[in-house]
Amino acid sequence: MTSSVRIHISLFLKLCIASLPLWLSAWSIPGIEASPVLRQRASTGFLQTTRYGSVTFTLGNQTYLANVRHPKAVLGHDSSISTIRSSQAEASSTQVVPFTVIFVNDEVVTGAYLQDVITSYLESDDVFSEDFLEGIYLARNDTASSKRSVTTTNLDASAIEYLGDIAPGYLFLDTSFAGSEASIDLAATYLAPPAGTNLTAGPYAVSISGDSVSLSMVYRLYRDSYRDFLYGTYDANDGAGTFYPTETFDSRFWDPLIPVPSRIYSWADARPLAGRRVAVKDLFDVKGLITSGGSQAWAEIVEVANHSAPSIQRIVDLGAVLVGKYKLAQFASGADPWGWQDEHYPFNPRGDGWLTCSASSSGGGCAVAAYDWLDFAIGSDTGSSMRRPAAVSGTFGNRPSQGLMTLKNVLPLGAATDTAGVFSRTVQDWVHFAKNWYVPELVEDASITGLSPLEAPDSYAFPKRILYLTDYLPLANPAAEVILQNFIRNMSEAFDMNVENLNLTALVGNTTDDVPKYDALNNATGILNTMTQYEEVAKPLISAWSARYEGRFPPIDPARRNGWARYNESFYTADLYASALATKRAAVDWFESAVLVQTPESCSESVMLWDIGTGGLPSYRERELNAWPETTAFLAVTPPGAGISGASLCPVYGCVDVTVPIGQVPYASNVTFREEMVPVTVNIIARRGCDFMLWNMLEKLADLGVLGGVKTGRTAF
Ligand SMILES: *[C@@H]1O[C@H](CO)[C@@H](O)[C@H](O)[C@H]1NC(C)=O
Ligand SMILES: *[C@@H]1O[C@H](CO)[C@@H](O)[C@H](O)[C@H]1NC(C)=O
Ligand SMILES: *[C@@H]1O[C@H](CO)[C@@H](O)[C@H](O)[C@H]1NC(C)=O
Ligand SMILES: *[C@@H]1O[C@H](CO)[C@@H](O)[C@H](O)[C@H]1NC(C)=O
Ligand SMILES: *[C@@H]1O[C@H](CO)[C@@H](O)[C@H](O)[C@H]1NC(C)=O
Ligand SMILES: *[C@@H]1O[C@H](CO)[C@@H](O)[C@H](O)[C@H]1NC(C)=O
Ligand SMILES: *[C@@H]1O[C@H](CO)[C@@H](O)[C@H](O)[C@H]1NC(C)=O
Ligand SMILES: *[C@@H]1O[C@H](CO)[C@@H](O)[C@H](O)[C@H]1NC(C)=O
Ligand SMILES: *[C@@H]1O[C@H](CO)[C@@H](O)[C@H](O)[C@H]1NC(C)=O
Ligand SMILES: *[C@@H]1O[C@H](CO)[C@@H](O)[C@H](O)[C@H]1NC(C)=O
Repeated sequence: MTSSVRIHISLFLKLCIASLPLWLSAWSIPGIEASPVLRQRASTGFLQTTRYGSVTFTLGNQTYLANVRHPKAVLGHDSSISTIRSSQAEASSTQVVPFTVIFVNDEVVTGAYLQDVITSYLESDDVFSEDFLEGIYLARNDTASSKRSVTTTNLDASAIEYLGDIAPGYLFLDTSFAGSEASIDLAATYLAPPAGTNLTAGPYAVSISGDSVSLSMVYRLYRDSYRDFLYGTYDANDGAGTFYPTETFDSRFWDPLIPVPSRIYSWADARPLAGRRVAVKDLFDVKGLITSGGSQAWAEIVEVANHSAPSIQRIVDLGAVLVGKYKLAQFASGADPWGWQDEHYPFNPRGDGWLTCSASSSGGGCAVAAYDWLDFAIGSDTGSSMRRPAAVSGTFGNRPSQGLMTLKNVLPLGAATDTAGVFSRTVQDWVHFAKNWYVPELVEDASITGLSPLEAPDSYAFPKRILYLTDYLPLANPAAEVILQNFIRNMSEAFDMNVENLNLTALVGNTTDDVPKYDALNNATGILNTMTQYEEVAKPLISAWSARYEGRFPPIDPARRNGWARYNESFYTADLYASALATKRAAVDWFESAVLVQTPESCSESVMLWDIGTGGLPSYRERELNAWPETTAFLAVTPPGAGISGASLCPVYGCVDVTVPIGQVPYASNVTFREEMVPVTVNIIARRGCDFMLWNMLEKLADLGVLGGVKTGRTAF
């Protein structure tokens, strides 16, 4: 049987070779059932060569980008064994052939093996499709030359049969197949092994010229249909850590296109974040890209970043892929949606699709809520900018302890108040990312924070008490408060904690004169948040713009215009900054000794619960729709009786504050005119340095089923 099949194939092949390129398409073997992967493949539609030398192409209704400028591997064709068929040799560098790279580890390759591999590609990757089977390259993994010299690889009859069912237009085999009796019959091209190239399995775009074959990584271009990104990015693969912008756009819906690489590329990569797709707030430097801070004026006067921020470089070093720069409130302000002028405000997938994304890490929270193809978004939080976008998008988001992550090469707001956080859809992913990202080497110097040195142990010393902050709770929507009360019961049971009410405003008001009060703290925070950004951003922008445009002030959003225009350099002195830092230091020292204290049993003796979000009410992107105080909410409103905005507690006290989605409640939308759901979240505060304790608690709550992951799209649960 086997030999007769072989003879049959051999004869058939020799007949078909003459009629290229359809040489395999009619190939069928009597008595063999068609494999499920056998079907008509879409042909490749060439779209354009980008400014950065990549090509975009379509396969059926999907659009892809291939980095042909810096291919993943360039392999030599072994001309002593085979010739590249003329149709292949003619392919120009812009005409890429979709290819599937499969690594074979055994000496005999079976059809079942090939089928399992292709099935796993189809099931576990959103980039690969059957259209990439137009070319197949069977590569060998054992590239050590000593081993190779004795290795020949065979395709058995079932493998040949399976390949016949697929009928690839191009078949490339590792040279170790060349001695094989069965495969000699295949009209294959033999390629020198990919030794030293880091070639991985998965879909590729292949270009052929002369005796060499270039395999370029393939990215699926997703529409950013919620317009949460500024633009997509991908690794230039230039060996220097550069990123390129995609600069492709969907004209029908005005969406940027975001490139995501095949997940298969990272299957054999053991790094902790291998292949995880991360969006970056356009405040962090990424080598090769402009950091705009959400301002076209700023984008005009700055150069492309020559280095990635250390916080970003760490993510890349951990194996993650940076898929795009996302929208932010200009210069990380807290601007409401209707205050955005330079950028079009991003969309929130939740509820009626017309809810706020808050600010300033607006595009990050909304993108993580929107897209299954995105895993994380990195952002910053100075006054609320991670926590509030997480609340309104129903995602997990953190403001870490002050100083936990360096903000070097990040456009600043306040050097002593800025922090860097991450959005995620599950506790497990969030904790995994955080534990790998936040490392002692990247902790900020105490001279920047003005605080005592930060220690952040991976602590399981859990708190004993839950403090329910009565100055910020209960939630405005009673249905949401029921969800919060259930969560509190679950949490107190899980950790055997007491629940106590606390009016923090009253507690602070009761302290002795040496403890800074909220008025002084608000003033100090104002100074800290004004001076760094003025010196490092406003001043250079205003002077560069004035020089270029006859003394004109730069066109910027209202959030910063008057403050920058009226900035008084005689008032904002180094002494004033130092005294503001000292005020903050005094407040933090008091807070850590009198309120959230460390004990031998607990990293943070208690945790505080409050709400940074909407209290379970919708807050729309359109100001006028929020006019109904009983059923809608404005954000960033300090409740009557509270001495300070709740969002300012951790910026003032240096503590860690995280947003955790716990449920959803209905509302009657004035946009879709039907019932929609809005996420309910809770914020949890622990002492500075107890970030990991908090994450360990949340992980336990996830294990117990108290917390679940959130879905993408209209509803979080
Ligand atoms: C795209 O093509 C695939 C495969 O042909 C098909 O299943 C899918 O429905 C198409 N999607 C759209 C949006 O047309
Ligand atoms: C392969 O990967 C290693 C480690 O990332 C890198 O140092 C090396 O330059 C890569 N080789 C090629 C040819 O890209
Ligand atoms: C190559 O082989 C090693 C060792 O067996 C394995 O860990 C790795 O995943 C393989 N790589 C590929 C691309 O299959
Ligand atoms: C990056 O390097 C180039 C060339 O050395 C230089 O001209 C440019 O000013 C640098 N850009 C920044 C932002 O440092
Ligand atoms: C909290 O304390 C402040 C100051 O004593 C007071 O004005 C406010 O009414 C209190 N709030 C609540 C909810 O008890
Ligand atoms: C504040 O002081 C008053 C008067 O001593 C006391 O009754 C109240 O309990 C204190 N409140 C807090 C929150 O410490
Ligand atoms: C806070 O600033 C305001 C306005 O400059 C000033 O009137 C007030 O005295 C300051 N309060 C404190 C406690 O510094
Ligand atoms: C600027 O600040 C200085 C020092 O506080 C003050 O004397 C001066 O009047 C201020 N100028 C303006 C225009 O407000
Ligand atoms: C919708 O608008 C009506 C007034 O037209 C108002 O009474 C209601 O509270 C609004 N509800 C929401 C959820 O926006
Ligand atoms: C959480 O609390 C609710 C209400 O008390 C209870 O019904 C539910 O079973 C608890 N969930 C878990 C996972 O303990």
